[in-house]
Amino acid sequence: MRKNIIAGNWKMNKTPQESTQLVEETLQLLAKENIGETIVIFCPPFIALERVAGLVKGKKNIFAAAQNCHWEKSGAYTGEVSAAMIKAAGAAYVIIGHSERRLYFNETNEQLAKKVNAVLAEGLQPIYCCGEPLEVREANKHFELVAQQIKEGLFHLSKDDFSKVVIAYEPVWAIGTGKVASDEQAQEIHAYIRKLITEKYDAATAANTTIQYGGSMKPSNAKGLMSQPDVDGGLIGGAALVAADFVGIIKSA
Ligand code: 13P
Repeated sequence: MRKNIIAGNWKMNKTPQESTQLVEETLQLLAKENIGETIVIFCPPFIALERVAGLVKGKKNIFAAAQNCHWEKSGAYTGEVSAAMIKAAGAAYVIIGHSERRLYFNETNEQLAKKVNAVLAEGLQPIYCCGEPLEVREANKHFELVAQQIKEGLFHLSKDDFSKVVIAYEPVWAIGTGKVASDEQAQEIHAYIRKLITEKYDAATAANTTIQYGGSMKPSNAKGLMSQPDVDGGLIGGAALVAADFVGIIKSA
């Protein structure tokens, strides 16, 4: 059965030194809690990835992730980082297709499909992001857009490869805005995503896929969102930068 996964996406925040501090503080707080089978992931900037992976190495159900990667193995791609490098740094997951990458760096579903392949080829797990901007929700086209993002980015995969994918539904209008999706809005689209997976693969594959919610998740709203039957954890931005808040969310999973 699928697991709840709480991942802290730090975005472009924290120096290497500050990263060590935040992870150590978070681990100290976590040590006092019983978090059961919940998986916890830290997603620092590339420059701190190896040190963060080192800090969580060997800890049960705690991992490091990169926030992006290139689809090629190596070569003349100035400024880029490959999945093989991420693996060598000790990470286990890679966020692919965050809405900020789609919006500010023009990443397309076609490119994201190649990135997903590169991540899987290294034995890492992609956290594939989907979600609609406000105008798309207002036009009631969010199901259509999310279906397109999932189909074009993921549905070329074999059932075996797809079983390693984590999906994060992040409505763009809820990211960093303080406007969280209601429990019902989250449940509705998560159930829809699971239905798409059933139709493409099968019910067992769908039941085993972790689908996280992301967008202004905080300790105060985490429990309501994650108690929805199809919401399996969270991809956390701002609140992951404060150890007590991140742990508060993890405890709600
Ligand atoms: P916030 O939690 O800051 O809204 O960010 C969500 C997000 O984009 C995580 O990837």
